[in-house]
Amino acid sequence: MPLGGMIKSKLMKLPDDARFSTICIHAGQEPDPSTGAIITPIYQTSTYVQEAVGQHKGFEYARTQNPTRLALEMNIAAIEGGKAAFAFASGMAAIDTITTMLEAGDHVIVTDNTYGGTYRLFEQVLRRYQLSFTYVDTSCLELIERAIRPQTKMLFIETPTNPVMRLTDLSAASELARKHRITMVVDNTFASPVLQRPIAFGADLVVHSTTKYLNGHSDSVGGIVVAVRDEDIESLKFLQNAAGAILSPFDSWLILRGTKTLALRMAQHNTNAQALAEYLAGHPKVKAVFYPGLPSHPQHALAARQMTGFGGMLTFDVGSQDAAHEVCNRVRLMALAESLGGVETLISHPASMTHASVPPERRAKIGLTDGMVRISAGVEDPADLIADLAQALAAA
Ligand SMILES: Cc1ncc(COP(=O)(O)O)c(C=O)c1O
Repeated sequence: MPLGGMIKSKLMKLPDDARFSTICIHAGQEPDPSTGAIITPIYQTSTYVQEAVGQHKGFEYARTQNPTRLALEMNIAAIEGGKAAFAFASGMAAIDTITTMLEAGDHVIVTDNTYGGTYRLFEQVLRRYQLSFTYVDTSCLELIERAIRPQTKMLFIETPTNPVMRLTDLSAASELARKHRITMVVDNTFASPVLQRPIAFGADLVVHSTTKYLNGHSDSVGGIVVAVRDEDIESLKFLQNAAGAILSPFDSWLILRGTKTLALRMAQHNTNAQALAEYLAGHPKVKAVFYPGLPSHPQHALAARQMTGFGGMLTFDVGSQDAAHEVCNRVRLMALAESLGGVETLISHPASMTHASVPPERRAKIGLTDGMVRISAGVEDPADLIADLAQALAAA
């Protein structure tokens, strides 16, 4: 069957008006045609046999196409409301591929509090290729507009940001980007498509570290780019094959398993993070809590408008690096680890872990203090998580 035919028949299984959690479970997948296996197999193959020269089933070489990866790409394209998706070996490989759509001399405006690894890629690698980057607080539209130059080709947004939980108004930003013919990219890793679908607000490209909520089980590293415009789809298809930083069949299979429970997991992540945020907000040793689900968050109204839940990530400030380290070192149930979005609750100290590659003066500028502790709330019973934090804070 030619590849196009396969895509069509796979998508035909879903009714056009299928709801979100149904899409998560079924999009891109149908029983395996040769055995009826309900789960898309791991097609662990490097090549595909052709019946005659040029006569094949839509798959020629596994860097270019793989059925397990294709199923995942169609699944996530549908989940994000895009037309096509392209899976990569990590979130950073996905972001790097997006930047290879640019040309030397182009300028990119970036959310100032972007993920530390993104900042490192832009500043320490891509500047060498004559790309330039300006970091602004994209929650302020005026600052984005002021940073636009004739060479500006891309607006790269993260919302909510990590770890200070600042939001950008996606509709307003996309209107501005459209007016100036700038491609708007949203890193949607933190929110997940359950809570926020940037394409519906006008984004051109959505990128994820699938390592996080999409996989959800802390056992895979991957990335994906979702596109809507035909020219972007052509370009990404070419770049994925040309540069070759593809996702493996096994990782594709793991993430497909993850997206089946994405909606369920996110509901519990939301509940747990809200419970922890409310507990911490009333704790005498906590100076501040950063969680969009708290009415005290300065952008609570925007979060309620733009997101369908407030997410599983929260940050709190205990006033000093020593106190933050104490809390991180004393938790028992929570795991002291980088990363986020898994079923297990993780705790980290951004200044010395995820954001250690961001210079201290930049950290200060974006409001990232040494006293901040970040939690990725898992899906355990929230009472157990609160008890763990209570004992860690009591001893801190
Ligand atoms: C928001 C965000 N984007 C991108 C990445 C990079 O993803 P990966 O670690 O899968 O390369 C991360 C990793 O933590 C992240 O938090």
